[in-house]
Amino acid sequence: MKAASPVTLPYATLIPLERHGPNSLSQQVTSGFIHLIQQGLLPAGAKLPGTRSLAGLLGLHRQTVVVAFDELVAQGWIEQLASKGARVSSSIPVIRPAALSAGTARRFAPRAGFAYEPVPPYPTTVRAPYVPLVLDAGSPDSRLAPLASLARKYRAVCLRASQRRGLGYADPNGSGALRQQLAQYLQGTRGLPAQVENVFVTRGSSMSLYLLLRLLLRPGDTVVVGERSYHGADYACAQQGARLERVRVDTHGLNLEEVEAVCRRQAVRLLYVTPHHHYPTTVMLAADRRVRLLQLAEQYDFIILEDDYDYDFHYDGAPILPLASADRHGRVLYLGSLSKVLAPAFRVGYVVAPPDIIEALGQLRRHIDHQGDAVLEQTIAELFAEGELGAHLKRARYHYQQRRDVFCTLLRQQAGSWLTFDAPAGGMAVWVRFGNEVHLNDLSARCRLLGLGIGDGRLFQAPTETRAHHLRLGFASLTPHELTHSVAVMQQALSTLYSS
Ligand SMILES: Cc1ncc(COP(=O)(O)O)c(C=O)c1O
Repeated sequence: MKAASPVTLPYATLIPLERHGPNSLSQQVTSGFIHLIQQGLLPAGAKLPGTRSLAGLLGLHRQTVVVAFDELVAQGWIEQLASKGARVSSSIPVIRPAALSAGTARRFAPRAGFAYEPVPPYPTTVRAPYVPLVLDAGSPDSRLAPLASLARKYRAVCLRASQRRGLGYADPNGSGALRQQLAQYLQGTRGLPAQVENVFVTRGSSMSLYLLLRLLLRPGDTVVVGERSYHGADYACAQQGARLERVRVDTHGLNLEEVEAVCRRQAVRLLYVTPHHHYPTTVMLAADRRVRLLQLAEQYDFIILEDDYDYDFHYDGAPILPLASADRHGRVLYLGSLSKVLAPAFRVGYVVAPPDIIEALGQLRRHIDHQGDAVLEQTIAELFAEGELGAHLKRARYHYQQRRDVFCTLLRQQAGSWLTFDAPAGGMAVWVRFGNEVHLNDLSARCRLLGLGIGDGRLFQAPTETRAHHLRLGFASLTPHELTHSVAVMQQALSTLYSS
């Protein structure tokens, strides 16, 4: 009987070789053949060309192909039959070959081959191509952060931990040292009677929000939020199946008569609030409303989720203590973050809550993340203990206050005929209302052409508005010089678009 001839394929095209890549040539030949077998192009029993002729086709030393074939034999993909050469193993199941095309053969499937529930897009401003200057919605200036100290300390902590076998799995509630430092810091700056067992460290408040809402909400639960509120919290509540009830926000914060009206109509599970500087409008919740809100929570049995994202930055008068500092009944859950203190890239946030909630969060966290970045947490704890973070906060507060003043003056002087605002008492952004003639889409596009990124206001549009009229314009991340340039660009865009 005539022996079967080897399968002829364009091997040189189907097994592209990278001569200076990270994998050896024999490894590349091995994985190339595995791929051809998996694709069904070399079926079970198919005879392979001899190592000499294959080496010629691929432009390799024969020995390289021999090593690759040995590996394929060892892995069970092919078998070497004495004096008959190599064949694809007879035990390989039959695979229908895809169309032979060098271009498509190695690409990942463009879509999952199964159905799944789509995830609604997270509300965010579209990241446009690079522009030299951006008026963000209120981010810190990472150029002011003590990055050199942080990097030095991170290195030292990492090496020390490694010597002490301290780089393994650790406490899901967060580094003990950082929880201790945060408890002390929160006691000293915010009057929060927090102990270590009240503090849970996460990778940023977004994770805190997710874990808390996952723990506390069930589909159909009612959550009260401002008519405008932090879009990340709205989204996280909606993802847990909660129904959002919106109440008006005026210059003193959430309208509590409307909160009470909602409570009378239906059971409310949770109220989300940013009392220190309401997001996005920056107004502070008035003292009398704070007292009343705590009473309402008791009376109508709901949870208060207090997101204190930028407490450390307050410029006019003393900051008002958080709601959590006056809570005696375990109703207020407090969220904080170092995103605004250092930079959003350093993912450290925290929850302050009764110990049973902290323990429950620890159990829940393990589903998605065994623990946070233990080295970073220890690093930050040491920077806290050495006073480095305190000194940075002082410096940053000084610069941000100056930048707020510069920015507000520039906005008034140069753009005052197109917009109105109240200077914020703290935080990192000014809440600006544009005149009805201004279309924020057009303004954003025009500014972009001139090299300045600003939002189009969609994130801050109240459900009752037909189009966006407001923007949060961040001043903290730009120097006075950059702010001057930004406002000049905005003025140029506004006057081109709207001056008669
Ligand atoms: C009100 C509010 N809460 C939470 C967050 C999330 O912060 P983090 O970076 O800590 O996840 C932000 C981010 O800007 C925010 O504005």
